[in-house]
Amino acid sequence: MNIRLLTKKETPPWELLLLADPSRKMVEGYLEEGECYIAESNLQVIGVYVLVPKEHETVELVNIAVAEKHHGKGIGKILVFHAIQTAKDRGYKRIEVGTGNSSIGQLALYQKCGFRITGIAKDFFVKNYQEEIFENGIKCRDMIRLSQGL
Ligand code: COA
Repeated sequence: MNIRLLTKKETPPWELLLLADPSRKMVEGYLEEGECYIAESNLQVIGVYVLVPKEHETVELVNIAVAEKHHGKGIGKILVFHAIQTAKDRGYKRIEVGTGNSSIGQLALYQKCGFRITGIAKDFFVKNYQEEIFENGIKCRDMIRLSQGL
């Protein structure tokens, strides 16, 4: 597996990007502002993440996704650690990530990669998404914010 920056001329892996965020509009915004990294294996894109610059030498990890047939093989963890290293190499001092209150697996993944919960954006998903989101039998309402120093 090779992880590389997607050039602005290349087509983003939409199917994967929309796995992480059902709103095409939100994803388009992230791609406009940030840099998209892809993981390739046998000429297939099997993973993706986007790094979006924020204020105060901080970068946000958004839209991390792994192709469904490759879930549970450790690729998500490799991508998160790659994002952390890339942010460090670029001189950022802090990396942030946000996920839904219902995203139990993602909350586990980020904490296993060193992130700590720093805040809650109450009703973020209720306000920003037209369709209701349910995961693990839980309604997704709030965004849990996590971060770590680099
Ligand atoms: N409880 C405890 N740990 C859990 C868990 C749970 N419910 N679900 C996942 N984990 C752990 C795994 O055990 C693993 O840790 P380990 O290596 O110590 O065992 C870690 O989280 C991640 O596993 P990994 O195989 O690296 O993840 P993955 O390749 O399946 O990718 C996602 C994870 C989130 C990227 C993938 O599920 C995905 O693409 N989901 C859809 C898109 C998405 O939701 N993106 C995130 C938006 S916030």
